[in-house]
Amino acid sequence: MTDLDATARRILQGNDRGGYTVPTAGLYPYQWNWDSVFAAMGFVTFDTDRAWREVETLLSGQWPNGMVPHILFHKVEPTYFPGPDVWGGVGPVPSSGISQPPIAATFIRYLADLDPSGADRAKAMVGPLTDWHRWFFDWRGEDGAICVSHPWETGRDNSPDWDAPFAAIEPANLDAYYRRDTTHVAEDERPRRWDYDRYLTLVKLGHDCGWDEAHLREVSPFRVADPTMTFTLLRANRDLLALAQRFGAETAEIEGWIAAIEAGSERLWNAEIGAYDTFDMRAGKHSGVISNASFLNWYAGVRPERMLDHFDRIAGLLPYGVPSADPQQPGFEPKRYWRGPVWAMMNWLIALGLRDAGHDGRATALCDTTRSMISTGGFAEYFDPRDASPAGGRDFTWTAATWLAWASPTAKGFPWQA
Ligand code: GLC
Repeated sequence: MTDLDATARRILQGNDRGGYTVPTAGLYPYQWNWDSVFAAMGFVTFDTDRAWREVETLLSGQWPNGMVPHILFHKVEPTYFPGPDVWGGVGPVPSSGISQPPIAATFIRYLADLDPSGADRAKAMVGPLTDWHRWFFDWRGEDGAICVSHPWETGRDNSPDWDAPFAAIEPANLDAYYRRDTTHVAEDERPRRWDYDRYLTLVKLGHDCGWDEAHLREVSPFRVADPTMTFTLLRANRDLLALAQRFGAETAEIEGWIAAIEAGSERLWNAEIGAYDTFDMRAGKHSGVISNASFLNWYAGVRPERMLDHFDRIAGLLPYGVPSADPQQPGFEPKRYWRGPVWAMMNWLIALGLRDAGHDGRATALCDTTRSMISTGGFAEYFDPRDASPAGGRDFTWTAATWLAWASPTAKGFPWQA
């Protein structure tokens, strides 16, 4: 075990609130959906039971309609805004009203492979995961492309992808609010007030209709097909299928989703720029933005020959990749959250895909730069792609987990081949 391994373990243990892990104290004091799945992958390197518990606690917040929320507010913390009252979630645990990228099935499959003694626990998750995936398909599917109803749902909160759809939203009837995030992190590393007004307008819209998806599909000004959602759900369905086969569950419905999303992912292909991007359903337009989510096609198992040119071009521009926005596009800001910085866990997903697609050299190179980035900048939330300097929150759960499971020289390396 290296010194950094020991630090990473300490971070996970320090962020452990008993059954769930906060992304980082203060800035994000609750259980976040995809952060938790990464946390589990960190825990499994030294405490298997704790890894399973993390995902069990996450699924305990599942709504009756199948949705697994992006935040579970297990106990109220005044350091965070917007909290449970602003959201008005309608599930068994106080929660937000939107979901997050469904990476759970993929990593639960991995967990089950690493720990065969947890087979019963994995088996019990197949039903809830299937219900969650059905929720995406039913409410967010547009001919197999998967949409979001809020940028926070993609996990890439202030990506330049949202600039155009947000410009069309006029914030209305907002109560005065006080942001807490900028009391924890420098303002120029966070979204702007302009973004926050629109985030909260969308939250209010959902809150006021009790998160009625049929209603929101009709009236929300924000409905955008997104590569993070589409590609992670496609991959998650492949892994759910493997779990369903292993445990003798129904497979036909899942096979149907895989075929539909494979076809639907074509909608995200923007031939003009030769890249995957978001597609605004309301405006009928591509964003034209190349983000780190554009490179998740390999993870999803579609079109392995695509995106390689952009990947190599961007890798040649910056010492640390993959930046969350293309440095040659106008929205790029190397320190501002999802408008340029590098996120270690996104690199892991991209590299997993690269490896599965047979691009092993690039996968290994990405692992090497991620290792050196974390060794230089520490366990930050995200990193400046020019010099790996740390940005955002510190002692961050998913960076520590990504280190333990993948980027550390002592990590087992890549999980199973898809
Ligand atoms: C931010 C990130 C999101 C993450 C959350 C907690 O909202 O954009 O991806 O899940 O913080 O870390």
